[in-house]
Amino acid sequence: MTPAEMGAVHAESHAAHGGAGHPHAEEHRPVFTGAPRAELDALLSRYPTRMAALLPALWIVQRERGWVSEGAMAEVAQVLDLTPAYVKGVVTFYTMYHQHPVGRYFVQVCTTSPCGACGADDVVRAFLEHTGTRELGVTSPDGKFTVIEVECLGACGFATPVMVNDEFHESVTPDRVPDILSKLE
Ligand code: FES
Repeated sequence: MTPAEMGAVHAESHAAHGGAGHPHAEEHRPVFTGAPRAELDALLSRYPTRMAALLPALWIVQRERGWVSEGAMAEVAQVLDLTPAYVKGVVTFYTMYHQHPVGRYFVQVCTTSPCGACGADDVVRAFLEHTGTRELGVTSPDGKFTVIEVECLGACGFATPVMVNDEFHESVTPDRVPDILSKLE
C-alpha cells in the first residue's frame, strides 16, 4: 500500500469514528521545519546517535499534529536515517503514540485487575456516557474526547486512576466524572 493509500485509509477510519481532531491535510505538510526542526537539532546534539532521538522526535510530531501519521513516520525515518519500518515498529509498540487522530482530551482509565476490582469498569462507563463517545477509542462528535482503557498507571493504591492528557486524577469514582469533565474547555 502506498503512503497516499494509507492516508486515505486513515481518513476513512477517522471519519468512521466520528473524529474531528486535526485536519487530515496536515498529514502531508512536513513537521520538521522552523521551530520543531530547531528543537530536533538541539536534541540531536545531546545524543550519541540520531537513532537515540527517535522517541523525543515522535513526541514532537504528536505535540505538533496530535497524532503520528504514516507520512510523519516516513519523515522521522528520513531525518534520523532510519527505515520507515523501524519507526513504525516503535510507534506501534508504545501505546502513548496515537496512530490516528484523537479528541482534544485523551482520557485513559486504568482497568487492570486491582483497579478493576475497585470499580474501574463503572468509571469507564461514566466517561463514555458523559463525554458522548459511547464507545472505547471513538472520538466524540465534537472532536473533544476520546476514552480508552489502559494497563496499570502505577497508582494501584489510588483506584481508579485516570489520565486526561498529561493530568493525573486519583481515586476517581463515577460520581466524580462530571466534575472532572466540567473543568475542561
Ligand atoms: S492496576 Fe490500576 S494503577 Fe495499577
